[in-house]
Amino acid sequence: MPTISRAPDTGVWLLTTPRTSYAVHIDETGAPCHLAWGPRLTPREAEELVLPAGEAASSFEGRPAVGEELPVDGGTRYGTPSLQVRYEDGSRGFEWQPTGHRVLTPSDGVGELRLEFRDRHYPLHVALHYRVRDDTDVIERWTVLRNDGEQRVSLLRTDSAAWSLPPLADYRLSHVTGQWSAESQLRRERLPHGETVLTSRRGITSHHAGPWVMVDAGDAGEEHGRVFGAALAWSGSWRITAQRTPDGRAGFTGGVGHESTCVPLAPAEEFATPVFAGLFTDGGFGAASRAWHAYTLRHVLPHGREVAPVLYNSWEATGFDVDEANQKALAERAAALGVELYVVDDGWFGARRSDRAGLGDWTPAPERFPRGLGPLADTVHRLGMRFGIWVEPEMVNPDSDLYREHPDWVLHTPGRARSELRNQLVLNFARDDVADWAHGWLTRLVADHGIDFLKWDMNRAFSEAGWPGAPDGHDRLWTRYVANLYGVLDRLRADHTGLRIETCSGGGGRVDLGILARTDQAWVSDNTDAVDRLVIQHGFSQLHPARAMSAWVTDVPNQLTSRTVPLRFRFHVAMCGLLGIGGDLARWSGEELAEGADLVAEYKRVRHLVQHGALYRLSGPHGELPTVVQYAAEDGTETLVLAWQRGPRHGLPRLPVRLRGLTPGARYRDARTGEVHHATVLAEYGFRPDLPSGDWASTAVHLVRVGQDEA
Ligand code: DGJ
Repeated sequence: MPTISRAPDTGVWLLTTPRTSYAVHIDETGAPCHLAWGPRLTPREAEELVLPAGEAASSFEGRPAVGEELPVDGGTRYGTPSLQVRYEDGSRGFEWQPTGHRVLTPSDGVGELRLEFRDRHYPLHVALHYRVRDDTDVIERWTVLRNDGEQRVSLLRTDSAAWSLPPLADYRLSHVTGQWSAESQLRRERLPHGETVLTSRRGITSHHAGPWVMVDAGDAGEEHGRVFGAALAWSGSWRITAQRTPDGRAGFTGGVGHESTCVPLAPAEEFATPVFAGLFTDGGFGAASRAWHAYTLRHVLPHGREVAPVLYNSWEATGFDVDEANQKALAERAAALGVELYVVDDGWFGARRSDRAGLGDWTPAPERFPRGLGPLADTVHRLGMRFGIWVEPEMVNPDSDLYREHPDWVLHTPGRARSELRNQLVLNFARDDVADWAHGWLTRLVADHGIDFLKWDMNRAFSEAGWPGAPDGHDRLWTRYVANLYGVLDRLRADHTGLRIETCSGGGGRVDLGILARTDQAWVSDNTDAVDRLVIQHGFSQLHPARAMSAWVTDVPNQLTSRTVPLRFRFHVAMCGLLGIGGDLARWSGEELAEGADLVAEYKRVRHLVQHGALYRLSGPHGELPTVVQYAAEDGTETLVLAWQRGPRHGLPRLPVRLRGLTPGARYRDARTGEVHHATVLAEYGFRPDLPSGDWASTAVHLVRVGQDEA
């Protein structure tokens, strides 16, 4: 059970998770202050960490920039404010006045602490929330603000939480950056003194940065070292600021919106921030990733325990030229390969022949689907597959009936241009009528055609983001848009419990814990080059599990990079996540179809390990050595090792990799060769995956526990 306790003398709150502790107290000024985040402590031990009043800072300095639970703009604070408020009379700031607390006693393995405050002068109420569970060391934190007055309050910055780190000899920041078709590039660099801002100003999570951080002392590796991290469950603009102060402290604060956005709070209105969840581990980056994966499977994904089907997607095969005949032909071939879910991508509706027209007109194109989608859906179902379809509900092409009818439905600012990206404009989902319209046609589409799966795309960032006519519209839209997006997804799922959804945003432009709580998987990049993908998947896997990672096998030369690698190599890369096929099966040779069918069957034999096992990144995707990943069953019964090599170099040592997650003293049989290995040898002396010689070699080795040595 997680525990939440309060020391009667010192008022220290102690939250415990299976392996970690988190302690806070309210100081003599009334401010909530951080005490500890790390290995487990008893309540008495936590109390020892309270410094006597006045000892923490010199009289010259004011309040420390790091060390409060939600540093506010107010008093003698000069660091990054997590909470910045402007009242109707123009004054600013917040002064903490504790008003109480609530503990929701742990039940069902979940406990919650709520620390409540108000401003000493203005009727603004702030509650800090903490949630701990008995099966994860991830601590969920968020903040709820309520305007108890009669005048409007502007929340200029309203972070979910600030996380303070202990004094360390050095600080190193891990995060991802990227761009379209090159998402999730892992960066691991020394945290500079000052403030480091990771942000999206695009209205979506973005390809360019991921809303999470990990910090270590510069000495952690995959297998060892203390790592502190946090991830924001939000799919709009966001900002995380990591600070390293001159006095050697560090921390990070994060929440919704970028620097110029603001959340208006009308009288009696409440704003609940999204969760900014934190995790401490002393097992290095590998353990941090595994803990985030397990948390996501259990507490974020709606159906994390479900085995995901092998998918086919038409995008790289037929582009916008989808029609009933070519989709039926592809579906026949896909079914023969062993595919279980057939997805028709863009191009099936309205006047959509390219990306220039038709978005918004969600009825099947009559010349392509003269009898509607029914016959195709029936064929797909008759072939024993589920039927999925691409949609982009938040968008409109100016050349569409929808836009001609409702030009005011898009984000726009009067007197300004309506800038197009990919020839499209963003529908203002913050408007309830727009969200209701989207829910209406989506629910009819799903119900009328027995649709099992939606690929929900979102292909451009906001611009001229205005909502004229709505009170505080320009400010409100940034958060209301996301709330309404979540609302439509939640309603759809509630109405169609069998429906599964893939989040996509021009590839991986909207992957975060917020959208993953309402979808089942993510399309992580439009780059399907298997070699580039190894790097993208490496970055993606730092926080997100394989269970959420769609990956397709596509044709060569690759459409984007022109690189050619063997079918087997491409399969092995896509088998690291949710295997999909995206090639033009009409052009696959008999041998390719046969090899593909074998590899799909092989994936089905091991997918439970990939989708629900523990990931070990044994050798990263950079450099000359083979890239090696391992997925291990939690009970040690079996394990899968996948390895890839760019090309041989004579004289390069063939280094063994040490396998993880095996039962000590057990023996494991290679399911393909029948060879038996001792766990001790595999784990302590290492294993050399049987990579064939030549360029672009790859292998997948499935080891099954067959016995135990005498002690
Ligand atoms: C971007 C997606 O990432 C692609 O997979 C494809 O669905 C296109 N949009 C369709 O326009």
